[in-house]
Formats: sequence, structure tokens, C-alpha cells
Amino acid sequence: MQILVLNGVNLDVIGRRDPKLYGGVSMNELESKIYEWAHALDISARCRQTNSEGEFIEWIHDAYDNVDGLILNPGAWSHYSYAIRDALELLEVPVVEVHLSNIEEREEWRRHSVIADVVSHRVIGKGPDGYHEALGFLVGKEDG
Ligand code: DQA
Repeated sequence: MQILVLNGVNLDVIGRRDPKLYGGVSMNELESKIYEWAHALDISARCRQTNSEGEFIEWIHDAYDNVDGLILNPGAWSHYSYAIRDALELLEVPVVEVHLSNIEEREEWRRHSVIADVVSHRVIGKGPDGYHEALGFLVGKEDG
């Protein structure tokens, strides 16, 4: 099982952002955890991060025929990028939206995600462990 994990804008600097919201880990540390969890679940994960919306969308396009599941945290793009939403709509594999912080209990503008209704599952406000839950969801999908 091949899983792609995409982190978007400003997630490269999560280690510098409010640890109460984002868990106080660097992107490198987060990606290492994801690789360990994937290994333990006996699946293959590839993690990528970019601050370029176009590149993020290209990676979703690349996923169409090449992965069994997608986990994504688009960062602030989640709240307004119809381009990312349109790209996700063409994916036929399960998609999990992850947010480290609980966007539903933060500023009004963060509460709405334009991709929420085109994903299979959402994990919100669980910090880095949210990616573990997302991997587990995808493994369960494969089995079930
Ligand atoms: C985030 C939440 C977004 O509102 C924010 O813009 C981010 C990170 C999260 O993981 O909690 O950059 O997606």
C-alpha cells in the first residue's frame, strides 16, 4: 500500500509556530514519525511539503494513478483554495484531511475548510498524532 502525505504552506516552519497549536515538532521530526508509523503498519509512505500551491496541485495530479491513499494538510489553503478542491475531486482513492490544531475552535475564518466535503475522513486538533490516525484510517479502508 502506497500512501502520499502532503503538507502545504507554512508547515515547513511548524517547529517555530505556537507549540500549543502545532505540537512543537519540526517538519523533519513530524515526517520521521510518519515514516515510523507507516513502517509499523507495514505500508509505504512518501512525505512532501511545499509552499507553492501549483506544486502542491501537481503532486495531487501525480497521485491520480500512483497511490492507494492520500493524507493532506494544506495549511491556510484549506480555507480558500478551490483549485486544490477541484484537483482532489478527481482522486479515486481515499483522502484524509489533517489539521494539527483544532481549526473549529479558532478564528472564524479558519473554521471553514473548502475541501471538507470532498475528503473521506478528517482528523482535526490531534497534533502530530493526527497523521497516525489518518494512516490507520487508510489501512482500515484497504482491509475493509
Ligand atoms: C493548519 C491550520 C490552518 O488554519 C493553518 O493555516 C495552518 C495549519 C493546522 O494544521 O492546524 O497553517 O492546517
